[in-house]
This record gives sequence, structure tokens and C-alpha cells, in this order.
Amino acid sequence: MKAVFRASAPVLVIALGACGSDPAPEPTEQIVVREPGQDGSDAAAAAPAEEATDSLVAAGKAAFNTCVACHVVDDSGINRIGPNLYGVIGRAAGSVDGFKYSDAMTSSGITWTKEELDNYLANPAAKVPGTTMMAGAISDAGRREAIIAYIEDASAN
Ligand code: HEC
Repeated sequence: MKAVFRASAPVLVIALGACGSDPAPEPTEQIVVREPGQDGSDAAAAAPAEEATDSLVAAGKAAFNTCVACHVVDDSGINRIGPNLYGVIGRAAGSVDGFKYSDAMTSSGITWTKEELDNYLANPAAKVPGTTMMAGAISDAGRREAIIAYIEDASAN
């Protein structure tokens, strides 16, 4: 359901951008002047909110490079050195089937909200003393926010 909504949203934005953002009083003349292939660039400029989300996700995807040696985020069911992070938001810590977690993780009692993920990524060993995740701490709050946005986005596809 969410995927369908996301796919159709840019179409709506294009429609709004074409009639709403241009103050020109004579839209008829504008249609005559414009070439058929040029609408796309106008639409992109008219969607700041969507662009902000997209760029946060894009930044998170880039920052996730710190994690890819150990984690994938897709519905393949593949675990690496760390468990698959697909759908991790809302999931109980230590609950991916077939992944061998530390006792510290399985008995942590954590459910991964965005806030809990933020705490964990800031300092994994402080949040879950005894965790076997030995790398991946992110000190920059903005980077953590972007990574979490990327994980959420990748889990929705
Ligand atoms: C060196 C390998 C490694 C890197 C790099 C790494 N992780 Fe991990 N991660 C692990 C391991 C191993 C675990 C399991 C920890 C345990 O059982 O204590 C884990 C667990 C997790 C969990 C808990 C998952 C669950 O199912 O409960 C999250 C969330 C997580 N990592 C996110 C990240 C993110 C985001 C990054 C990048 C910023 C990252 N990790 C980088 C190895 C890694």
C-alpha cells in the first residue's frame, strides 16, 4: 500500500507544479511556448518537501556504506556478519531467524523504534553491553537520522 502511494505521489506533484507554482497570468500562452519534453525539470523544482525526504534517504544510503560489510537491508533473508535489517524498525531486538546473536542482544528486551536505533548506533556497546557488533558506531546525530531514514525507506520497498 505504501509503495503504491509513493509511486503515485510524484505524479500529483507534477500536476500541482504545472498550474500552482507559476505566477504567469496567461497559462494558455505558456502551453504554446513550452516544448513537450521540458515539464520534468519544472516538476522537480516544485517539490521541496519530497526532495528533502529523498535527500535524507540518499544521504542515509551513502552513510550506510559503514554498515554494508556486515548488514544488508532487503527481503532476501540474507544475513552477513550482522543480521538483515529489513523491517528492523518495530521488531524485537535479536529476532531474525537463523542469525546467531549474542545473549546480550536477545535478552536486551529492546524493541527497535527509531529512538532506540538512534541510541544504539550512537554507542552500541553502551546500549547493549556485551553486543558482538564491534563496529558501526556513528557519533554524528544527523548521520544516524539519515541512516535510520534509509533503513525505513528500504524496508518499505
Ligand atoms: C563489523 C560488522 C558490523 C558493522 C560494520 C555493523 N554492524 Fe550492526 N550488527 C553486527 C552484529 C554482529 C550484530 C549482532 C549483535 C549482537 O548479537 O549482539 C549487529 C546488530 C545490529 C542491529 C540489531 C539488529 C537486530 O536484529 O536486533 C542493528 C539495528 C544494527 N546492527 C545496525 C547497524 C547499522 C545501522 C550499522 C552501520 C552504521 C551497523 N549495524 C554496522 C555487525 C555489524
